[in-house]
Amino acid sequence: MINIAIDGPAGAGKSTIARTLAADLGYIYVDTGALYRAVGVNAMRRGADAKNAEQVTATLPSADVSLRFVDGEQRVYLGEEDVSLAIRTPEASMAASNVSAIPAVRDFLLDLQRSIAAGNNCIMDGRDIGTVILPNAQVKIFLTASVEVRAKRRYDELLGKGMQADYETVLDEMIRRDEQDMNRAIAPLRQAPDAVAVDTSEMDLEQVLNTIKRIVKEKQ
Ligand code: DC
Repeated sequence: MINIAIDGPAGAGKSTIARTLAADLGYIYVDTGALYRAVGVNAMRRGADAKNAEQVTATLPSADVSLRFVDGEQRVYLGEEDVSLAIRTPEASMAASNVSAIPAVRDFLLDLQRSIAAGNNCIMDGRDIGTVILPNAQVKIFLTASVEVRAKRRYDELLGKGMQADYETVLDEMIRRDEQDMNRAIAPLRQAPDAVAVDTSEMDLEQVLNTIKRIVKEKQ
């Protein structure tokens, strides 16, 4: 199977790029952030403090998280409930970042991610795909952009989905999430030594896509 790993901070454009590229190549697109979000939402619903490792770990046996693919599109399920929308709120973002720092949560989601990659040609995006989950991925991309550009993109995305948003709040949350994701003890956001870095701050979608397609072609 061919696996393409795309890592980078929130709002760098990973999901848009990965989704488009996957459709182009006929691969499935796996958004691993959605898994941490689902675990975070499940923990919140059960009254756990997302920062409390013991409380969150106690909710894991009830976190029946699965991904289903419909026409290459990923849907996220908690049991039989489609939570694909519920995991996109700002509270769910912060809960995901908090629970993702807990080793038991990362262990819990490891096999699921590896088994999807073993069974499918896929593009997987996240924070530790190239470094921890799929160290042997054929192609590794590290996608970045300035925090202001990323906050503006996330803000536009929320408005586009009809959600309420305030730019300063989005920027603030993005800075806090970056800080947490990069400085946690386990599987911090980091560029794999063999990943190609692409800074998308000054690029539009088409330019990023062309750049990445070129990298994929060179590596395969
Ligand atoms: O990509 P995202 O914004 O949906 O991810 C939500 C949170 O999950 C993010 O703040 C960090 C965490 N995450 C992670 O630790 N490892 C991944 N592979 C993907 C996401």
